[in-house]
Amino acid sequence: MKVRKAVIPAAGLGTRFLPATKAMPKEMLPIVNKPTIQFIVEEAINSGIEDILIVTGRSKRPIENHFDANEELEAALEAKGKEELLATVKDLNKINLFFTRQSYPKGLGHAVLQAKNFVGNEPFVVMLGDDLMVDQIPLTKQLMNNYEQTHASTLAVMPVPKEETSKYGVIDPEREFSEGVYNVRRFVEKPQPEVAPSNLAIIGRYLLTPEIFSLLETQEPGAGNEIQLTDAIDRLNQIQRVFALEFNGKRYDVGNKFGYMQTIIEYGLTLPEMKKNLIQFIKETAQNL
Ligand code: UTP
Repeated sequence: MKVRKAVIPAAGLGTRFLPATKAMPKEMLPIVNKPTIQFIVEEAINSGIEDILIVTGRSKRPIENHFDANEELEAALEAKGKEELLATVKDLNKINLFFTRQSYPKGLGHAVLQAKNFVGNEPFVVMLGDDLMVDQIPLTKQLMNNYEQTHASTLAVMPVPKEETSKYGVIDPEREFSEGVYNVRRFVEKPQPEVAPSNLAIIGRYLLTPEIFSLLETQEPGAGNEIQLTDAIDRLNQIQRVFALEFNGKRYDVGNKFGYMQTIIEYGLTLPEMKKNLIQFIKETAQNL
């Protein structure tokens, strides 16, 4: 079956970015001129995803408005002849977006469970707004390609420094199934470095079969007393194969403050109108330290 649907959980509290995230989801934090969630939505569309569900918490308005028409703004841009900006703004209204609420932030697994009716009996992808992925083939598309061959759930993983395993879900790889794709013995959420089965961490892209939902419904809270998606995936792996695909592209972790700053600087350096001035500014600033 073709993978057509994506779920973007955006109901976390975003405590690391308070007070910015008090009244705004952290997925709306901009990377220069684009909110992070727009990068995720673009990755989905560039991968061939047709319908996207965003799971929001209390402050969903800004996300909804961002992807909705804004007649006043469109008329003003048109009157000023700002065609390029007008197209940028209008393109955002064309996407098939749906919204649902997670009433309490009980964990990522619980957020994904809110997508049960939207997804139905189809394979789907989960895309976290914390992680921006850059590669020639979008990572979501890479997972979809693996699904086409195996018809199995596939998670993206990447090596992380051993001392950071407690921030991630970590896999216990069994053997290489095909180049860069692993069979997995266990999926462990937030293991301490001493007990982590490897340094291959789950990053924010998952392709899952719909059997995950019945497992999420019975999933007990795990690490941090939250309903963890990783724990349900570990149980899924006991009834059907779940693969891990190693990502070789570039990952930007925008969920923490330093990663966010790095992302903004690197993205700024890709913008032709900014590159020269930004390099000069960085050099001068570093010299004055
Ligand atoms: P994080 O734990 O990184 O996000 O969850 P957070 O809780 O918002 O951030 P901090 O740690 O307090 O700063 C990973 C992703 O899962 C979503 C978040 O929105 C984020 O995209 N999430 C997490 C939910 O949608 N619901 C939850 O209950 C928990």
